[in-house]
Amino acid sequence: MKLSFWKTHTDTAGQVDFSRLPRHIAIILDGNGRWAQRRGLPRTAGHKVGAETFRTIATYCRDIGIQYLTVYAFSTENWRRPPDEVETIMVLLKRYLLEAIDTMERDNVRLRFMGDMTPLTAELRGLVDQCNAISDRLTGCQCNICINYGGRGEIVHAAQSFARDCLDGRARPEELTEEAFEGYLYSAGIPSPELLIRPGGEQRLSNFLLWQCAYAEFYYTNVLWPDFTKRELLRAIAAYQHRDRRFGGVKT
Ligand code: FPP
Repeated sequence: MKLSFWKTHTDTAGQVDFSRLPRHIAIILDGNGRWAQRRGLPRTAGHKVGAETFRTIATYCRDIGIQYLTVYAFSTENWRRPPDEVETIMVLLKRYLLEAIDTMERDNVRLRFMGDMTPLTAELRGLVDQCNAISDRLTGCQCNICINYGGRGEIVHAAQSFARDCLDGRARPEELTEEAFEGYLYSAGIPSPELLIRPGGEQRLSNFLLWQCAYAEFYYTNVLWPDFTKRELLRAIAAYQHRDRRFGGVKT
């Protein structure tokens, strides 16, 4: 879809400067359960619609030229949910990865994963590996799906890798810089998100991208993730573009 189409066909798009889009948008997918419960449906129905919403929003991000999209699909804490809910989320992820393997080359969309993949089934880990291998050959928009992810865990994992490099003589503690440390995170090589969107009405970070969101602009909305639309995304981008980003400095 041509950008000009969206420029003329969505009202909110009029407020978005498409030449100043954030390079990286992060989204906490929240509100699936409540969306379903409000309709008298099982929570899993909300995750099914939420996965569709993710497809729509990821495709739209690619269409308008967002370079990186990172979503929080399953946290390290989410294993505490009822087994059928965890199972449904894993099935939805599997379905998404199978589809992606067939389409990412055509769409030039890279799919990467952040988190500790070891507790996933061998089948899911195999699909993750396939997506990574295909992504290695591509150059387009990169979608990062956080699975079994926690921000604190990511930092500890990075610290362990750095400590190992020190023990092996490949690094020295006194020479560590913030930039070098970033190379040990799951997000190595990816610019930090400029915009973090949280649907579902909560206003907290929930252990998501703790390091990377140091200077992200937060956008919260009461809209539940399954109801999140392209227009909502444009609203968030428009709000971000009105923020005064000083990074701890002052305006000159
Ligand atoms: C949070 O809503 C959502 C999740 C924990 C799961 C998100 C997973 C998917 C949308 C499925 C697959 C994902 C992809 C990327 C294909 P919640 O259940 O915490 O909502 P609530 O706060 O209303 O209970």
